Amino acid sequence: MEKETIYRKSNKNDLSQISALLKALDLNVANIIADGFFVAVNGQRVLGCARIIEMNDGDIELASMAVVKECRRQGIGSKIIQMLLGSEKRRPVYLMCRRRNQKFYEKQGFREIQDDLLPAVYKSKVDLTISAARRVTGDGLVMIKK
Ligand SMILES: CC(C)(COP(=O)(O)OP(=O)(O)OC[C@H]1O[C@@H](n2cnc3c(N)ncnc32)[C@H](O)[C@@H]1OP(=O)(O)O)[C@@H](O)C(=O)NCCC(=O)NCCS
Repeated sequence: MEKETIYRKSNKNDLSQISALLKALDLNVANIIADGFFVAVNGQRVLGCARIIEMNDGDIELASMAVVKECRRQGIGSKIIQMLLGSEKRRPVYLMCRRRNQKFYEKQGFREIQDDLLPAVYKSKVDLTISAARRVTGDGLVMIKK
């Protein structure tokens, strides 16, 4: 890539690319708002994104983490998390992921947490979101960064 990759908050011009990236990976595209993400951008192109979602009890979740396929394993995902959690000071932060991504999040300071230790609101979201997947594939875990 010719240009330098920059990391910044998203704006309305990024939305269609963010949405396409998340949809292609089957990730949650509910309640997408223009400035709700942190993105890695090269020129006009969105290379990756993530966002913080706030539960109605005030707990927060790292969600919608994605990097375009041909740009993975170059540190972009890590940098997005570091920028996002640098600007979001509230802790703890929760997330749901697949086993194959566990190491990636552990490098950013997340640890696996058992469901019975989760706050009620997030536990309900976990039940809705990954319980079915767990039953079918045995995959899906919850992580926390304190
Ligand atoms: C998960 C994802 C966001 C990681 O982004 P990335 O930019 O490739 O990650 P980084 O380059 O910052 O990776 C940093 C380290 O995490 C680890 N890591 C990243 N992806 C990994 C993988 N698939 N398997 C094992 N370790 C991985 C590696 O240790 C890597 O360091 P290394 O390349 O020096 O070995 C990206 O692979 C992706 O978009 N995957 C598909 C969508 C997805 O699963 N999103 C998460 C939803 S929970």
